[in-house]
Amino acid sequence: MALILIGEDKSSYMYYQAILKAAARAGIDYTLPSSPTMNEILNLIKTLNHDERVNGILTFMPLPRHIDTRRVVNAIAPEKDIDGQGAFSVGRLAADESTAQLFEPGFTLSIRSTFLPCTPYGVMRMLEHYGVDPKGKKVVIVGKSLAVGKPLAMMMLVKEATVTVCHRETEDLGAETRQADILCTATGRKGLIKTDMVKKGAIVVDIGINVLSDGEIVGDVDFDAVSNKASMITPVPGGVGPVTIAILLKNTVISAKRMMGVG
Ligand SMILES: NC(=O)c1ccc[n+]([C@@H]2O[C@H](COP(=O)([O-])OP(=O)(O)OC[C@H]3O[C@@H](n4cnc5c(N)ncnc54)[C@H](OP(=O)(O)O)[C@@H]3O)[C@@H](O)[C@H]2O)c1
Repeated sequence: MALILIGEDKSSYMYYQAILKAAARAGIDYTLPSSPTMNEILNLIKTLNHDERVNGILTFMPLPRHIDTRRVVNAIAPEKDIDGQGAFSVGRLAADESTAQLFEPGFTLSIRSTFLPCTPYGVMRMLEHYGVDPKGKKVVIVGKSLAVGKPLAMMMLVKEATVTVCHRETEDLGAETRQADILCTATGRKGLIKTDMVKKGAIVVDIGINVLSDGEIVGDVDFDAVSNKASMITPVPGGVGPVTIAILLKNTVISAKRMMGVG
């Protein structure tokens, strides 16, 4: 796996360290370039695309402002796009060409499938693991980013949920979140989801990561209060984050097997 860390974003650095730790256990190699220009990044990705030893490429977000993020992500070869962020992977998710993975997690990826974005896919796998079927449920997602909110909404629709996606311009966030049987939040806003915004018995998935000035990590949800009201809730840290990394490693291994012609 090639990890491309550009700039000094704190949460990216923590994510990077966590992947290194997990990747070392899984025995996957990594490459780290030094602070590059746009031209160097594109050339590095081109090299990695053609390097048979590399099965997966991941760029940490957000990239510094002067870097065109979509150009960088779209430069990754679709078969090595282990976080499913390129236009090709996103298109295949939207067109239902990659979504069989949501029903048969152990299955071999067909040649027409690309990888699903790790964080939302991790959320789906986590719900499945705990016996939560989104079918027919009211799912409210707070956050509409291309990395998390949007693909999670698409995956929930594939699983026949009724989906509402909220964002900064949502007029009455609490009125929306109170409807949720399954409430997923990915905003990076500490304390955004308070207990009066959650329906009793709801399932709450906190994807947000906020690094406080003293180094403490918290999610978007007021955990102590909401955990008394929710039927299930994911903690931060230790919830969605480790599952995201596990999916990333799994996708890399699937990619390696595909490239070796054994999977
Ligand atoms: N656990 C993991 O593995 C994992 C993986 C990826 C990301 N994350 C975390 O998840 C969070 C979101 O990441 P991202 O990449 O999706 O971030 P992002 O691109 O900044 O998107 C944040 C989203 O939250 C919405 N939002 C922000 N403030 C809001 C508010 N007050 N009310 C309602 N919506 C609000 C934004 O709305 P607008 O679109 O209207 O601006 C946007 O859609 C971050 O904390 C990130 O660290 C965790």
